[in-house]
Amino acid sequence: AQITINGQQSKKISNMLTGVFFEDINYAADGGLYAELIQNRDFEYAVSDKKGRDDKWNATMAWSGDFKISKEHPVHQNNPNYAVVTKAIISNTGFDGIALKANEKYDFSIFAKGAKFTVKLKSVIGETLAEATLSPNTSWKKMNAVLKSSKTVTDAHLEISTAGETAVDMVSLFPQKTFKNRKNGLRADLAEAIADLHPKFVRFPGGCVAHGDGIHNIYKWKNTIGTLESRIPSRNIWNYHQSMGLGYFEYFQFCEDLGAEPVPVLAAGVPCQNSADGGAGQQFGIPMEDMGEYVQDVLDLIEYANGSITTVWGKKRAEAGHPKPFKLKYIGIGNEDLISHVFEERYRMIVKAVQQKYPEIIIIGTVGPFNEGTDYNEGWGIANDLKLPMVDEHYYQSPGWFINNQDFYDSYDRTESKVYLGEYASWGNKFYNALAEALYLTGIERNGDVVTMASYAPLLAREKHTQWNPDLIYFNGHEVKPTVNYFVQQLYGQNPGDFYLQNTIKLSDTNNEVNKRIGVSAVKDQATGDLIIKLVNVLPVAVTPSIEITSLGTADNASYTLLSGTPGNTAARPVVQKMNVKEAFSKELPPYSFAVIRMKAN
Ligand code: AHR
Repeated sequence: AQITINGQQSKKISNMLTGVFFEDINYAADGGLYAELIQNRDFEYAVSDKKGRDDKWNATMAWSGDFKISKEHPVHQNNPNYAVVTKAIISNTGFDGIALKANEKYDFSIFAKGAKFTVKLKSVIGETLAEATLSPNTSWKKMNAVLKSSKTVTDAHLEISTAGETAVDMVSLFPQKTFKNRKNGLRADLAEAIADLHPKFVRFPGGCVAHGDGIHNIYKWKNTIGTLESRIPSRNIWNYHQSMGLGYFEYFQFCEDLGAEPVPVLAAGVPCQNSADGGAGQQFGIPMEDMGEYVQDVLDLIEYANGSITTVWGKKRAEAGHPKPFKLKYIGIGNEDLISHVFEERYRMIVKAVQQKYPEIIIIGTVGPFNEGTDYNEGWGIANDLKLPMVDEHYYQSPGWFINNQDFYDSYDRTESKVYLGEYASWGNKFYNALAEALYLTGIERNGDVVTMASYAPLLAREKHTQWNPDLIYFNGHEVKPTVNYFVQQLYGQNPGDFYLQNTIKLSDTNNEVNKRIGVSAVKDQATGDLIIKLVNVLPVAVTPSIEITSLGTADNASYTLLSGTPGNTAARPVVQKMNVKEAFSKELPPYSFAVIRMKAN
């Protein structure tokens, strides 16, 4: 094969192509990225958290022992339930057991009133690993203790034993070591795995979570800020409970800590696929008479992120500890919605209000779900009419689809909206899937003048609580398990460019089925002055291309990162070597492999 990369012919491409799609699915937030170790800390789990209701899933979930739930004079009206423990022991097993590390400190906090109580961290065989005794008042008071674990265990529980009658609520345990040591922070190992992807943006809080099932389940950002006890928990569309401990402030702060652009996505005034609300009303969208208030919520979010501290919402951000603006540039309106009349009416109203008040904000519209045999025409029609700068496309397909559709964006009209490929994945976590994605991404880079951002979806999945496969990173309470697909994302994330260099591939084989299984993308990164060549081989045989990079430079210490394996492999990991690169050189690409060559360019 002959590959020629032409340094003279280049085009500007997006420098923020890869980022992450964070959705609170698969216990990605509570029991996941959010570092809280106590499950149902607020006693607000409800039978209605589960579709069709589940009696076992109630205010006592994850707790055991002798206590009763009371609602009289709660800590906060938004958290009506609390537990009353009378000369008894209650315990919480966290999310499938609490993982603790020897000699590490944990911040315990609680709202309590009544008699003295002792809190203990205990192993599964009953050893006490840490303990503290606290004496509350007769009225609600937030109390704290630092607990240092004497052992490393994966399945501890927290016990509270009371000397008399004690009321407790917001029972919380956080590792002191969170990502960037933030209070109310994120699990360090998971956040670091995300940081290692070098995401240029983070989309949150979903997916379907953003628009919910039914208008009463639409995600409301205002419910997720402020003191933890004042946040309004919610049923998660994926059939569990959202404590909202990981809320909009924490999302913005995470983006800032990552150096990634925040991309919040808000419902377009309609729930998932304009789902019927059930019951008499059968509402498929927020009633028009309530839309003014909803539109104001969207505008207020921009003020919360960017407004000065003299504004109503900017002041709330400052009170939360961030007087400087978060510099929000993007906002998504709608998620994979059915393009119905109900949708369109509300979507246009929101988009126009944002365009009018905040013309500098880049609005990302939606063009509905993509399936084989359907197209995005209707959604694109509205986007063009609204002159949207960007639209969100989603597709989950077979690896074969990704191999066969590398030209998906080649014919996109460059004068219309840019694309945010907000969700995509090939159906599986085998190496073949990862390779199909790597190949497809060479086409995304080639079309980086029309595709601005792309995010694999979903990002996180807790073992035993996974509702959707495949995902990018699996985890349990103490381990992070990146998939092979993760390493493809990482290699793209760590090797972005802002100029795409024209290239040609000539293969000796004339069979197109063979040819399309070899992919090349060459980019230049202005910040580092590097030339980056990505090569993908989805063939069962090695290919040794002759590569010409005339006038782009030479290097005797270029890095050569190889990810290779068999199609069914799930354990492939990138291996980095050094290599010499001349203006004309050849390098064997092993069967089923993805290689990245990186060197200083002229
Ligand atoms: O990523 C999982 C789901 O797929 C998202 O919530 C939704 O937008 C899409 O259908």
